[in-house]
Parts: sequence; C-alpha cells; structure tokens
Amino acid sequence: MFSIFPNPQAIAENLSTLLAKKIRSNPTTILGLATGSTMEPIYARLVQKIQQDNIDMSQIKTFNLDEYIGLPPEHPQSYYQFMHQHLFQAAGIRPEQVTLPSGMCTDIEEECVSYSEKIRAAGGLDIQLLGIGTNGHIGFNEPGTSFDSLTHVIQLSENTRLDNGRFFENQDEVPTHAITMGIQDITNAKEIVLVATGSHKAEIIAQLYASDIDEQLPASVLKQHPRINIFIDDAAAALLPVQAKKIV
Ligand code: F6R
Repeated sequence: MFSIFPNPQAIAENLSTLLAKKIRSNPTTILGLATGSTMEPIYARLVQKIQQDNIDMSQIKTFNLDEYIGLPPEHPQSYYQFMHQHLFQAAGIRPEQVTLPSGMCTDIEEECVSYSEKIRAAGGLDIQLLGIGTNGHIGFNEPGTSFDSLTHVIQLSENTRLDNGRFFENQDEVPTHAITMGIQDITNAKEIVLVATGSHKAEIIAQLYASDIDEQLPASVLKQHPRINIFIDDAAAALLPVQAKKIV
C-alpha cells in the first residue's frame, strides 16, 4: 500500500506517467483532483508531459475535492484559481470540462446535494488524487467526519486553518468553513492515489500505518479500498517501521 520514493520529483514523475497513460487509454477519463502544495510538482510534470507528448485532454472531465466558503473564484487563494494556475490553463482543459464546488453559492445545501449528484451522473470518478492533512483529513473531511458522508459544509479545524495560513497574508483571512466532497464520494472512486511528502507529514503517515479504520483518522478509510496507492517520499516515510516500506 505504501510506495516510497526518494523525493517529491520522483513521485511527480511516476504519478504523471500513470495519469498520462490512463488518459491515453481512455480519453474520457474522469479525474478527481486535489489542490495544495503536494500537488504542485505533480501537476507541473503532468503539464510538461501533456505538452511534449501532445496528449488529448479535450474529452476528460474533472471534479475537485473542495473549495473555501466565501472565496470567489477570482480570489488568489481560491482552489478554482489554484487549479487554473497549476493545471487547467497550461493543459488546455476548458472551463466546461471542470467542476469545483462553489464557495459562493446562495443555496449551500442544494450545492452540496447537486455536487455529489453531478459526480454520480458523470459515471463516477475513475481516479481520485488526494493529499493528507497533518491531522489525517482527506478533502476537507476533518477527524470525526462520517465515512458515509456526501458533499457537505465543514468547519475547518484550527489545525487545518493554521497549516493553510501560509497561503494567506494573515491568519484571520483563512476561511473558517469549506465545502468538501464527502468521504463516500471519495471512496466511490474506482482508484485512489494519496500522496504525502515532507517531514511534516511523517507523523500522520506513521499514525495512518498503525491505525485501525477509524473516523477519527479520516484517511484510514482508504485501507478498505480495493485500489489504493499511497505514494510518499523518504521524508514522509521517516517514522514508518521497516516492514511497511516498499521502496520504489
Ligand atoms: C486540497 C485538500 C487537502 C490537502 C491537504 C494537504 O484540495 O483537499 O486535503 O490535500 O490539506 O495539503 P498540502 O498538500 O498543502 O500539504
């Protein structure tokens, strides 16, 4: 389940190759996408491959995991902006191919119900990319979220607001709430790849390895998924016991 790579670039190489292969063999692939620092080198390498190898991206569809409530799409820290900057624009993925939850909708309950429904109506996610929070969240499903959850509004934990404060000018600007795919939306994906890089993820990765499947550690739900890969770099693997390590 855990594959260990020397550094984030090696993960980016491997994962972008996997994604490129998938898209070539099925040009209508439905991608579930994550934002965050972990994804940046992966999207950068994927964009290079798409451009170099002329991969046809015109028929894929994408669904993002989450969005901050209260940030309009044009806000520099919205996940809409992140995706446009790091992937969509350079990869030639058009606005009509992408779906993100709206953090600015007037009827938030309707937005939640219809987001999960849109994923189902599209045929479900072929592959979902995930990062992991230092508290074990996936998407913005914070510890304690029901494994049966669909898209919902979540109050961000102080831990997550502090972690994400680095992207904002000051801590007060970090939104308090987000809209996120639920854990069931995520685990309904046919295949999942969770990525963790850096020494700040070593503790949660060791906890994930040792943990039972427990709603207090949202990522532990992935242990029961039939097609889960966890790609980590040496730094994030530092606290894993030797028997957990499959070096790539
Ligand atoms: C982002 C998301 C989050 C991040 C996680 C790790 O769309 O859903 O779960 O993947 O917070 O973030 P980074 O990669 O910035 O450490």
